[in-house]
Amino acid sequence: MISSDLYAAFSALSEQYSNDQIVYVADGAIDLSELPTHPTLVLNAGESGKSLETVQRIWDFLFEHQITRRGLMVCIGGGTTTDIGGFAAATYKRGIDYINIPTTLLAMVDASTGGKTGINYRGFKNSIGAFYAPVETIVWPKWLKTLPTHELLSGFAEMLKTGLIGNEQLWHRLLQFDWDTPQLDEALLNELSSLIEECIAVKERIVNSDPHEKGLRKALNLGHTFGHALEEIQMEHGPRSNDTPANGTWSHGYAVLYGLIAEAYLSVVILDFNRTILLQLSQLMLHYYGRPECKCSDRERLLELMRQDKKNEHAAEINCTLLRGIGEPVINQAISDTQALEAWEYLFSL
Ligand SMILES: NC(=O)c1ccc[n+]([C@@H]2O[C@H](COP(=O)([O-])OP(=O)(O)OC[C@H]3O[C@@H](n4cnc5c(N)ncnc54)[C@H](O)[C@@H]3O)[C@@H](O)[C@H]2O)c1
Repeated sequence: MISSDLYAAFSALSEQYSNDQIVYVADGAIDLSELPTHPTLVLNAGESGKSLETVQRIWDFLFEHQITRRGLMVCIGGGTTTDIGGFAAATYKRGIDYINIPTTLLAMVDASTGGKTGINYRGFKNSIGAFYAPVETIVWPKWLKTLPTHELLSGFAEMLKTGLIGNEQLWHRLLQFDWDTPQLDEALLNELSSLIEECIAVKERIVNSDPHEKGLRKALNLGHTFGHALEEIQMEHGPRSNDTPANGTWSHGYAVLYGLIAEAYLSVVILDFNRTILLQLSQLMLHYYGRPECKCSDRERLLELMRQDKKNEHAAEINCTLLRGIGEPVINQAISDTQALEAWEYLFSL
């Protein structure tokens, strides 16, 4: 639910739980003063925190506070916090209720809904996890006022993905959104809130029709086969660029944006997707995101990572979601090594 009154929304949801059975797992960057006080485990956000050690910390915290199966965990933060919090909730005592309160744009439009939870393991993104949906997600757009621009753009990349698999109208509204204005003023925040609502609706429609990703839900992986390979290369080698965000790594959405371009390129080549949209995406990248500074000269390693992607149906095959048109995703597209290399070349040549 989108709410303009976080306190009221949270109070209404939490009243069915005993007060001593509610705990928070929260990103350390978040000011919790808008919420009632409860025991809080503070986590470091970011990919490196999405580990088994962090899950153990959360399990220990739940045991220390004697949380029973009637308890409630509240995950407050970006996608790394909601992913790991959700996974800990799924596994603690075989599953306790949890609520997501996403504080990044990316988590609002994507990570906090749909019930995918998990951690990174053996260098692979989200390779251990569970489908386990929160009892509710409370989206309070005011969190976005403190979010740095590169994190806003990161979330916007997932919105672009949603627009592409959603519909023409959403795509055109997204293209018109102005990120050149330095401050997220009230007018922009209102427009953004309305776009967030639309993106959540598109995602929910898809997830409800295929909660466990047997078919149509794979559409939501658009951009992620190439994007995850970039993120994993970065986890292996560390940041390569001077213009990456302050924490020294790309935000997830940047990798998704680069993946969207590579996969839109393949959509043009294989499915006759409209080249104009590929050019629009490429221009958005050059205008707002910058080129992927990690040129990843080790192309064979990129291919290897893509072959090991958990989304593949068969071992050693590269599998993507592509587009025939806006709103027309085509899942399970097997890609040859030559095609994948061609797409990387297109991206790195921009
Ligand atoms: N489960 C899913 O369906 C799904 C979907 C998409 C992405 N994801 C996952 O989400 C993760 C990325 O999420 P993310 O981009 O939110 O990253 P993140 O959780 O690392 O947050 C990004 C940064 O923003 C900071 N931050 C959070 N809220 C803030 C606020 N209101 N003001 C200022 N700073 C704030 C954090 O401290 C962090 O430094 C990835 O691990 C990705 O795999 C999951």
